[in-house]
Amino acid sequence: MEFKTIIEPFRIRQVQPIRSTTRDERITALEKAGNNVFLLKAENVLIDLLTDSGTGAMSNEQWAGMMRSDESYAGAESYYRFESAVKDITGFKHIIPTHQGRAAERILFGAAVEEGQVVPNNTHFDTTRANIEVRGATAVDIPTPGSADTQSISPFKGNMDIDELKSILDQWADKVPMVMMTITNNSNGGQPVSLGNIREASELCKERGVPFFIDACRFAENSWFIKLREEGNENRTPIDIAREIFSLADGATMSAKKDGMANMGGFLALNDDALAEQCRSMLILTEGFPTYGGLAGYDLETVATGLYEALREDYLAYRIRTVAYVGEQLTNMGIPILQPPGGHAIYLDAKTWLSHIPQEQYPGWALANVLYQEGGIRASEIGSVMFGQQPDGSEKLADKELVRLAFPRRVYTQSHIDYVVEVLEYINTIKDTIKGVRITKQPAALRHFTAEFETVM
Ligand code: F0G
Repeated sequence: MEFKTIIEPFRIRQVQPIRSTTRDERITALEKAGNNVFLLKAENVLIDLLTDSGTGAMSNEQWAGMMRSDESYAGAESYYRFESAVKDITGFKHIIPTHQGRAAERILFGAAVEEGQVVPNNTHFDTTRANIEVRGATAVDIPTPGSADTQSISPFKGNMDIDELKSILDQWADKVPMVMMTITNNSNGGQPVSLGNIREASELCKERGVPFFIDACRFAENSWFIKLREEGNENRTPIDIAREIFSLADGATMSAKKDGMANMGGFLALNDDALAEQCRSMLILTEGFPTYGGLAGYDLETVATGLYEALREDYLAYRIRTVAYVGEQLTNMGIPILQPPGGHAIYLDAKTWLSHIPQEQYPGWALANVLYQEGGIRASEIGSVMFGQQPDGSEKLADKELVRLAFPRRVYTQSHIDYVVEVLEYINTIKDTIKGVRITKQPAALRHFTAEFETVM
């Protein structure tokens, strides 16, 4: 008999209490935090869905690795274990450890991107974009046509628009230092990219002599979607699919805080000898010696083990099913979400759900605050507060007002998930009473982290 219940493929032998608070306590805590959930003390949060980055639970094997680690400054055993795991999975020649993903980005773009150049990506993550722009170059998003429609259902909505890539390469033949593919496409709903699409982008880049890089943060989740959804891959293992993905690229940047199952870590991996040498020089300047790159030996151990754990089928089945389950429950209740559910997160469509709140009053932000107030759940707005502030100080409303419920890896159980669904079900009954917010104080840039708000009465 094959039973249909998908269980958490682990048992729990160390627990960390989470603290319930009353609604009044939460209102006070939120007020103290300037009505900005980023400024809350984590101890006042019951279920924390702010990010899936660095928030996962490590396995017994990862903790054992930490105890075994070698903290030698140079040539530590832990580095060689890390290098061998990353090489085994990615196949790249040079493996450069970094403290997290954005450090890999900064080093890569610092070495390979110059002023006036153009870097296309299916969709840049914010730090990726910022690290290109700081070089005086332009970061261009070329998501697959139709992916802007939050309600359309398609298996690989994270894809790149290959025609657009062609036209960019035609137009700016000498101006494109590299093309990047983000898997899964976090800024576009955590949607996966198909192997076919990666292959097409790779072939085109090869033909034009342009290096092709993968932003690999959620490569294991993306591999799982390929197995589930792309014909011809159903009998392959996730690691086999992942190896093929990397074999199509010239290099990758990685935040091991996601599918590295680590609380900290990342890497830059690439084949080009000269570029690798340049990157290592920069690494020494700002991160550390090439065999630790800003990480402790024990961090390197957690990543070396975590990368394989992220590729386990029982884990991926449980992980992706959890997110799909939340999506199905909310859809059945008529709560609008970005469809279909992605790999690591559910994105609530606040503009549609709270259509009575004008966009100028940040419906996504208002919703994130209510989620905390009513249920002690922390989530992040991805809308006009995050993207609306222009460099000249003016305001430009975002296309979408989303609230992301990002799920930490191996942290929450099915009843935590059911609780989240129940809170949203309740919010659906009071949604018309939710009021918009206005900003009372904000910094000059990246305002969502520290701005303060009040309710519009
Ligand atoms: N690329 C993507 C697609 C990401 O989602 C992130 C981080 C990074 C690069 C940068 O990695 O944080 O290790 O420096 N995303 C986190 C998030 C912060 O919440 O989505 P990092």
